[in-house]
Amino acid sequence: MRFVDACLGRPVDTTPVWLMRQAGRYLPEYRALREKVSFLEMCKDPDLVVEATLQPLRRFDLDAAIIFSDILIPIEAMGVPVEFVPEPRLPRPVRSSDEARNLRLPDPLRDTGFLMQGIARVRKALDPARALIGFAGAPFTLATYLVEGGGSRDFFQTRTWMVRDPDGFSGLLARIADAVAPYLRAQVDAGADAVQVFDTWAGELTPDDFRRFALPAARSVIERVRREGVPVIYFVNGAAGVLDDLVHSGADCLGLDFRVDLGEAIRRIGGRASVQGNLDPMALFAPPEDLRRRVASLVEAGRAARGHVFNLGHGVHRDTPLSGVETLVEEVHRRGVRSGAETGT
Ligand code: CP3
Repeated sequence: MRFVDACLGRPVDTTPVWLMRQAGRYLPEYRALREKVSFLEMCKDPDLVVEATLQPLRRFDLDAAIIFSDILIPIEAMGVPVEFVPEPRLPRPVRSSDEARNLRLPDPLRDTGFLMQGIARVRKALDPARALIGFAGAPFTLATYLVEGGGSRDFFQTRTWMVRDPDGFSGLLARIADAVAPYLRAQVDAGADAVQVFDTWAGELTPDDFRRFALPAARSVIERVRREGVPVIYFVNGAAGVLDDLVHSGADCLGLDFRVDLGEAIRRIGGRASVQGNLDPMALFAPPEDLRRRVASLVEAGRAARGHVFNLGHGVHRDTPLSGVETLVEEVHRRGVRSGAETGT
Protein backbone atom coordinates (compact mmCIF):
# COMPACT_ATOMS: atom_id res chain seq x y z
CA MET A 1 0.00 0.00 0.00
CA ARG A 2 1.42 3.32 -1.13
CA PHE A 3 0.15 5.09 1.98
CA VAL A 4 1.64 2.59 4.45
CA ASP A 5 4.93 2.55 2.52
CA ALA A 6 5.27 6.34 2.71
CA CYS A 7 4.53 6.31 6.45
CA LEU A 8 7.25 3.72 7.02
CA GLY A 9 9.78 5.40 4.71
CA ARG A 10 9.71 2.70 2.04
CA PRO A 11 9.86 3.52 -1.70
CA VAL A 12 6.63 4.60 -3.41
CA ASP A 13 5.61 5.09 -7.07
CA THR A 14 4.02 8.45 -6.30
CA THR A 15 3.04 10.56 -3.30
CA PRO A 16 -0.01 9.14 -1.49
CA VAL A 17 -2.83 11.47 -0.46
CA TRP A 18 -5.85 11.54 1.85
CA LEU A 19 -7.57 14.45 3.61
CA MET A 20 -8.43 14.98 7.24
CA ARG A 21 -12.24 15.15 7.50
CA GLN A 22 -12.55 13.72 3.99
CA ALA A 23 -15.92 12.28 5.03
CA GLY A 24 -18.25 15.06 6.00
CA ARG A 25 -20.53 17.90 5.15
CA TYR A 26 -18.79 19.19 2.01
CA LEU A 27 -20.07 15.98 0.32
CA PRO A 28 -23.71 16.20 -0.86
CA GLU A 29 -24.13 12.44 -0.30
CA TYR A 30 -23.00 12.88 3.35
CA ARG A 31 -25.51 15.69 3.86
CA ALA A 32 -28.21 13.42 2.41
CA LEU A 33 -27.39 10.70 4.97
CA ARG A 34 -27.39 13.24 7.79
CA GLU A 35 -30.87 14.48 6.87
CA LYS A 36 -32.25 11.25 8.31
CA VAL A 37 -30.04 10.62 11.35
CA SER A 38 -28.03 12.54 13.94
CA PHE A 39 -24.24 12.51 13.89
CA LEU A 40 -24.05 10.25 16.97
CA GLU A 41 -26.57 7.79 15.49
CA MET A 42 -24.43 7.66 12.35
CA CYS A 43 -21.30 6.92 14.37
CA LYS A 44 -23.02 4.04 16.19
CA ASP A 45 -24.56 2.30 13.17
CA PRO A 46 -21.97 0.06 11.46
CA ASP A 47 -23.82 0.24 8.09
CA LEU A 48 -23.77 4.04 8.16
CA VAL A 49 -20.14 4.04 9.35
CA VAL A 50 -19.19 1.94 6.31
CA GLU A 51 -21.19 4.13 3.93
CA ALA A 52 -19.80 7.45 5.24
CA THR A 53 -16.23 6.08 5.26
CA LEU A 54 -16.43 4.95 1.63
CA GLN A 55 -18.22 8.01 0.20
CA PRO A 56 -15.09 10.11 -0.42
CA LEU A 57 -13.28 7.15 -2.02
CA ARG A 58 -16.04 6.73 -4.59
CA ARG A 59 -15.52 10.28 -5.74
CA PHE A 60 -11.76 10.78 -5.43
CA ASP A 61 -8.64 8.67 -6.08
CA LEU A 62 -7.59 8.73 -2.42
CA ASP A 63 -4.91 6.36 -1.08
CA ALA A 64 -6.55 5.90 2.31
CA ALA A 65 -9.96 5.82 3.94
CA ILE A 66 -10.35 7.00 7.53
CA ILE A 67 -12.99 5.26 9.57
CA PHE A 68 -16.02 7.45 10.16
CA SER A 69 -16.26 8.26 13.86
CA ASP A 70 -15.20 11.01 16.26
CA ILE A 71 -12.48 11.45 18.85
CA LEU A 72 -15.20 11.85 21.50
CA ILE A 73 -16.82 8.43 20.89
CA PRO A 74 -14.68 6.55 23.47
CA ILE A 75 -15.39 9.33 26.02
CA GLU A 76 -18.99 8.20 26.29
CA ALA A 77 -17.73 4.67 26.88
CA MET A 78 -15.65 6.10 29.77
CA GLY A 79 -18.91 7.08 31.41
CA VAL A 80 -19.04 10.76 30.44
CA PRO A 81 -22.07 11.71 28.31
CA VAL A 82 -21.36 13.56 25.05
CA GLU A 83 -23.79 15.54 22.86
CA PHE A 84 -23.25 17.14 19.46
CA VAL A 85 -25.29 20.33 19.15
CA PRO A 86 -23.57 20.38 16.59
CA GLU A 87 -20.41 21.31 18.54
CA PRO A 88 -19.45 18.77 21.20
CA ARG A 89 -20.93 19.35 24.67
CA LEU A 90 -20.22 17.29 27.81
CA PRO A 91 -22.76 18.25 30.48
CA ARG A 92 -20.82 16.52 33.31
CA PRO A 93 -17.17 17.63 32.97
CA VAL A 94 -14.30 16.07 34.96
CA ARG A 95 -12.78 18.60 37.37
CA SER A 96 -11.02 16.60 40.12
CA SER A 97 -8.59 13.72 40.59
CA ASP A 98 -11.38 11.71 42.22
CA GLU A 99 -13.53 12.11 39.12
CA ALA A 100 -10.52 11.23 36.95
CA ARG A 101 -9.94 8.01 38.91
CA ASN A 102 -13.60 7.09 38.46
CA LEU A 103 -13.45 7.25 34.66
CA ARG A 104 -14.32 3.82 33.31
CA LEU A 105 -11.77 1.90 31.28
CA PRO A 106 -13.98 0.67 28.44
CA ASP A 107 -13.86 -2.72 26.79
CA PRO A 108 -13.35 -1.69 23.15
CA LEU A 109 -15.30 -4.62 21.67
CA ARG A 110 -18.23 -4.53 24.07
CA ASP A 111 -18.54 -0.76 24.41
CA THR A 112 -17.56 0.37 20.92
CA GLY A 113 -18.28 -2.75 18.88
CA PHE A 114 -20.09 -0.67 16.23
CA LEU A 115 -16.74 0.92 15.34
CA MET A 116 -14.82 -2.37 15.25
CA GLN A 117 -17.55 -3.91 13.07
CA GLY A 118 -17.44 -0.88 10.79
CA ILE A 119 -13.65 -1.25 10.45
CA ALA A 120 -13.88 -4.97 9.63
CA ARG A 121 -16.55 -4.32 6.98
CA VAL A 122 -14.76 -1.37 5.38
CA ARG A 123 -11.54 -3.38 5.19
CA LYS A 124 -13.41 -6.15 3.31
CA ALA A 125 -15.06 -3.71 0.90
CA LEU A 126 -11.99 -1.56 0.24
CA ASP A 127 -9.60 -1.96 -2.72
CA PRO A 128 -6.55 -3.81 -1.27
CA ALA A 129 -4.25 -1.02 -2.52
CA ARG A 130 -6.01 1.55 -0.31
CA ALA A 131 -5.29 1.74 3.40
CA LEU A 132 -7.84 2.03 6.17
CA ILE A 133 -6.88 4.43 8.96
CA GLY A 134 -8.20 4.05 12.51
CA PHE A 135 -7.86 6.93 14.95
CA ALA A 136 -8.25 8.32 18.44
CA GLY A 137 -7.78 11.62 20.22
CA ALA A 138 -4.50 12.02 22.10
CA PRO A 139 -4.84 12.10 25.90
CA PHE A 140 -4.24 15.85 26.24
CA THR A 141 -6.78 16.78 23.55
CA LEU A 142 -9.38 14.44 25.05
CA ALA A 143 -8.62 15.90 28.49
CA THR A 144 -9.49 19.40 27.22
CA TYR A 145 -12.98 18.21 26.22
CA LEU A 146 -13.45 16.25 29.46
CA VAL A 147 -12.33 19.12 31.67
CA GLU A 148 -13.84 22.07 29.78
CA GLY A 149 -17.08 20.24 29.00
CA GLY A 150 -16.74 21.09 25.29
CA GLY A 151 -14.65 23.24 23.01
CA SER A 152 -12.85 26.25 24.45
CA ARG A 153 -10.97 29.39 23.46
CA ASP A 154 -8.46 29.64 26.32
CA PHE A 155 -8.73 26.19 27.99
CA PHE A 156 -9.04 27.94 31.36
CA GLN A 157 -10.20 24.92 33.41
CA THR A 158 -7.60 22.59 31.87
CA ARG A 159 -4.63 24.92 32.18
CA THR A 160 -5.43 26.09 35.69
CA TRP A 161 -5.77 22.45 36.84
CA MET A 162 -2.40 21.77 35.22
CA VAL A 163 -0.62 24.51 37.18
CA ARG A 164 -2.49 24.00 40.47
CA ASP A 165 -2.11 20.23 40.57
CA PRO A 166 0.33 18.96 37.94
CA ASP A 167 0.48 15.44 39.37
CA GLY A 168 -3.30 15.15 39.49
CA PHE A 169 -3.52 16.37 35.92
CA SER A 170 -0.88 13.84 34.83
CA GLY A 171 -3.04 11.20 36.54
CA LEU A 172 -5.99 12.23 34.37
CA LEU A 173 -3.83 11.95 31.23
CA ALA A 174 -2.61 8.50 32.32
CA ARG A 175 -6.19 7.33 32.88
CA ILE A 176 -7.20 8.53 29.40
CA ALA A 177 -4.12 6.85 27.89
CA ASP A 178 -5.16 3.58 29.56
CA ALA A 179 -8.53 3.85 27.80
CA VAL A 180 -7.20 4.98 24.41
CA ALA A 181 -4.37 2.43 23.95
CA PRO A 182 -6.63 -0.68 23.98
CA TYR A 183 -9.20 1.20 21.87
CA LEU A 184 -6.59 1.78 19.14
CA ARG A 185 -5.22 -1.76 19.44
CA ALA A 186 -8.74 -3.10 18.91
CA GLN A 187 -9.02 -1.00 15.74
CA VAL A 188 -5.83 -2.60 14.39
CA ASP A 189 -7.14 -6.06 15.35
CA ALA A 190 -10.37 -5.27 13.49
CA GLY A 191 -8.48 -4.42 10.29
CA ALA A 192 -7.09 -0.88 10.42
CA ASP A 193 -3.82 -0.65 8.42
CA ALA A 194 -2.59 2.41 10.31
CA VAL A 195 -3.76 4.65 13.14
CA GLN A 196 -3.65 8.39 13.64
CA VAL A 197 -3.51 10.05 17.05
CA PHE A 198 -5.06 13.56 16.92
CA ASP A 199 -3.55 16.12 19.31
CA THR A 200 -5.67 19.00 18.08
CA TRP A 201 -5.14 21.29 21.09
CA ALA A 202 -1.59 20.38 22.23
CA GLY A 203 -0.29 23.38 20.24
CA GLU A 204 -1.98 25.65 22.82
CA LEU A 205 0.59 24.67 25.47
CA THR A 206 3.96 26.25 26.23
CA PRO A 207 6.74 24.09 24.77
CA ASP A 208 7.70 23.04 28.32
CA ASP A 209 4.15 22.00 29.17
CA PHE A 210 3.86 20.19 25.83
CA ARG A 211 6.98 18.20 26.75
CA ARG A 212 5.83 17.61 30.33
CA PHE A 213 2.18 16.68 29.73
CA ALA A 214 0.94 16.18 26.17
CA LEU A 215 3.97 14.45 24.66
CA PRO A 216 4.59 11.73 27.29
CA ALA A 217 0.88 10.91 27.37
CA ALA A 218 0.77 10.58 23.58
CA ARG A 219 3.97 8.55 23.62
CA SER A 220 2.55 6.17 26.20
CA VAL A 221 -0.38 5.46 23.86
CA ILE A 222 1.84 5.16 20.77
CA GLU A 223 4.26 2.69 22.35
CA ARG A 224 1.39 0.42 23.37
CA VAL A 225 -0.14 0.50 19.88
CA ARG A 226 3.00 0.07 17.77
CA ARG A 227 3.01 -3.14 15.80
CA GLU A 228 5.27 -4.28 12.98
CA GLY A 229 4.08 -2.88 9.65
CA VAL A 230 1.22 -0.82 11.12
CA PRO A 231 2.24 2.83 11.08
CA VAL A 232 1.23 5.29 13.79
CA ILE A 233 0.74 8.94 12.77
CA TYR A 234 0.88 11.67 15.42
CA PHE A 235 -0.83 14.92 14.40
CA VAL A 236 -0.25 18.00 16.54
CA ASN A 237 -2.17 21.07 15.45
CA GLY A 238 0.01 24.14 16.00
CA ALA A 239 3.29 22.24 16.29
CA ALA A 240 5.63 25.02 15.08
CA GLY A 241 7.08 25.64 18.56
CA VAL A 242 7.72 21.98 19.33
CA LEU A 243 8.84 20.54 15.98
CA ASP A 244 12.05 19.13 17.42
CA ASP A 245 10.15 17.27 20.13
CA LEU A 246 7.67 15.46 17.87
CA VAL A 247 10.04 12.62 16.97
CA HIS A 248 10.12 11.66 20.67
CA SER A 249 6.46 10.63 20.35
CA GLY A 250 7.72 7.42 18.74
CA ALA A 251 5.35 7.84 15.77
CA ASP A 252 6.35 6.60 12.31
CA CYS A 253 4.84 9.63 10.64
CA LEU A 254 4.30 13.17 11.97
CA GLY A 255 1.20 15.09 10.86
CA LEU A 256 1.94 18.80 10.37
CA ASP A 257 -0.51 21.67 10.46
CA PHE A 258 -0.53 24.35 7.74
CA ARG A 259 1.29 26.98 9.86
CA VAL A 260 4.68 25.29 9.55
CA ASP A 261 6.96 25.38 6.53
CA LEU A 262 7.09 21.80 5.23
CA GLY A 263 10.71 22.04 3.99
CA GLU A 264 11.89 23.45 7.32
CA ALA A 265 10.01 20.79 9.26
CA ILE A 266 11.55 18.03 7.13
CA ARG A 267 15.06 19.44 7.69
CA ARG A 268 14.51 19.39 11.44
CA ILE A 269 12.90 15.94 11.56
CA GLY A 270 15.52 14.49 9.21
CA GLY A 271 15.35 10.76 8.58
CA ARG A 272 13.79 10.00 11.96
CA ALA A 273 10.14 9.97 10.80
CA SER A 274 7.97 10.44 7.73
CA VAL A 275 5.77 13.52 7.46
CA GLN A 276 2.14 14.13 6.56
CA GLY A 277 0.67 17.44 5.44
CA ASN A 278 0.22 20.27 5.15
CA LEU A 279 -1.80 22.29 2.63
CA ASP A 280 -3.93 25.11 4.02
CA PRO A 281 -7.55 23.82 3.75
CA MET A 282 -8.54 27.22 2.34
CA ALA A 283 -6.25 26.65 -0.66
CA LEU A 284 -9.05 24.41 -1.97
CA PHE A 285 -10.99 27.63 -2.63
CA ALA A 286 -8.21 29.04 -4.88
CA PRO A 287 -8.45 29.18 -8.69
CA PRO A 288 -7.32 25.77 -10.09
CA GLU A 289 -3.97 26.98 -11.45
CA ASP A 290 -3.08 28.55 -8.12
CA LEU A 291 -4.17 25.43 -6.22
CA ARG A 292 -2.01 23.29 -8.52
CA ARG A 293 0.99 25.52 -7.85
CA ARG A 294 0.54 25.26 -4.09
CA VAL A 295 0.14 21.49 -4.26
CA ALA A 296 3.18 21.11 -6.54
CA SER A 297 5.36 23.13 -4.20
CA LEU A 298 4.46 20.91 -1.22
CA VAL A 299 4.93 17.71 -3.24
CA GLU A 300 8.40 18.92 -4.27
CA ALA A 301 9.31 19.88 -0.69
CA GLY A 302 8.07 16.45 0.44
CA ARG A 303 10.68 14.67 -1.69
CA ALA A 304 13.32 15.56 0.90
CA ALA A 305 11.45 13.64 3.60
CA ARG A 306 12.02 10.00 4.58
CA GLY A 307 8.44 9.57 3.37
CA HIS A 308 5.67 12.08 2.59
CA VAL A 309 1.91 11.58 2.81
CA PHE A 310 0.09 14.51 1.27
CA ASN A 311 -2.75 15.92 3.39
CA LEU A 312 -4.28 19.18 4.46
CA GLY A 313 -2.84 20.95 7.47
CA HIS A 314 -6.24 20.61 9.14
CA GLY A 315 -9.72 19.30 8.25
CA VAL A 316 -11.64 19.99 5.03
CA HIS A 317 -13.94 23.00 5.52
CA ARG A 318 -17.64 22.22 5.07
CA ASP A 319 -18.08 24.73 2.20
CA THR A 320 -15.17 23.32 0.17
CA PRO A 321 -15.85 22.97 -3.58
CA LEU A 322 -15.63 19.34 -4.76
CA SER A 323 -13.69 20.48 -7.84
CA GLY A 324 -10.87 21.68 -5.55
CA VAL A 325 -10.52 18.24 -3.95
CA GLU A 326 -10.55 16.61 -7.40
CA THR A 327 -7.79 18.95 -8.62
CA LEU A 328 -5.71 18.43 -5.47
CA VAL A 329 -5.74 14.62 -5.61
CA GLU A 330 -4.95 14.54 -9.32
CA GLU A 331 -2.10 17.03 -8.98
CA VAL A 332 -0.50 15.18 -6.02
CA HIS A 333 -0.37 11.92 -7.97
CA ARG A 334 0.84 13.60 -11.19
CA ARG A 335 3.57 15.66 -9.50
CA GLY A 336 4.64 13.02 -7.03
CA VAL A 337 5.71 10.36 -9.56
CA ARG A 338 9.13 8.89 -8.71
CA SER A 339 11.61 7.74 -11.33
CA GLY A 340 12.58 4.05 -11.48
CA ALA A 341 15.89 4.84 -9.71
CA GLU A 342 14.05 6.37 -6.76
CA THR A 343 11.60 3.50 -6.36
CA GLY A 344 14.35 0.90 -6.68
CA THR A 345 12.73 -0.77 -9.71
O1 CP3 B 1 -11.59 12.68 9.05
C1 CP3 B 1 -12.63 12.03 8.82
O2 CP3 B 1 -13.26 12.11 7.76
C2 CP3 B 1 -13.07 10.99 9.85
C3 CP3 B 1 -14.02 11.42 10.79
C4 CP3 B 1 -13.67 12.41 11.88
C5 CP3 B 1 -14.65 13.27 12.43
N1 CP3 B 1 -14.09 13.91 13.49
C6 CP3 B 1 -16.04 13.37 11.97
C7 CP3 B 1 -16.88 14.49 12.39
C8 CP3 B 1 -12.48 12.62 12.58
C9 CP3 B 1 -11.10 12.01 12.37
C10 CP3 B 1 -12.77 13.57 13.61
C11 CP3 B 1 -11.79 14.00 14.61
C12 CP3 B 1 -12.12 15.11 15.52
N2 CP3 B 1 -13.32 15.40 16.10
C13 CP3 B 1 -11.19 16.03 16.03
C14 CP3 B 1 -9.70 16.01 15.72
C15 CP3 B 1 -9.41 16.53 14.39
C16 CP3 B 1 -9.36 18.00 14.28
O3 CP3 B 1 -10.33 18.57 13.77
O4 CP3 B 1 -8.36 18.55 14.71
C17 CP3 B 1 -11.86 16.90 16.88
C18 CP3 B 1 -11.25 18.08 17.63
C19 CP3 B 1 -13.21 16.48 16.93
C20 CP3 B 1 -14.30 17.07 17.77
C21 CP3 B 1 -15.44 17.52 16.96
N3 CP3 B 1 -16.32 16.69 16.30
C22 CP3 B 1 -15.88 18.86 16.76
C23 CP3 B 1 -15.19 20.09 17.32
C24 CP3 B 1 -17.04 18.78 15.98
C25 CP3 B 1 -17.97 19.91 15.63
C26 CP3 B 1 -17.39 20.84 14.64
C27 CP3 B 1 -17.78 20.40 13.27
O5 CP3 B 1 -16.90 20.29 12.43
O6 CP3 B 1 -18.99 20.23 13.08
C28 CP3 B 1 -17.27 17.42 15.66
C29 CP3 B 1 -18.35 16.86 14.82
C30 CP3 B 1 -17.93 16.04 13.62
N4 CP3 B 1 -16.95 15.08 13.62
C31 CP3 B 1 -18.51 16.08 12.32
C32 CP3 B 1 -17.87 15.10 11.55
C33 CP3 B 1 -18.16 14.70 10.13
C34 CP3 B 1 -19.68 16.94 11.88
C35 CP3 B 1 -20.91 16.29 12.39
C36 CP3 B 1 -22.14 16.63 11.59
O7 CP3 B 1 -22.41 15.91 10.60
O8 CP3 B 1 -22.84 17.55 12.00
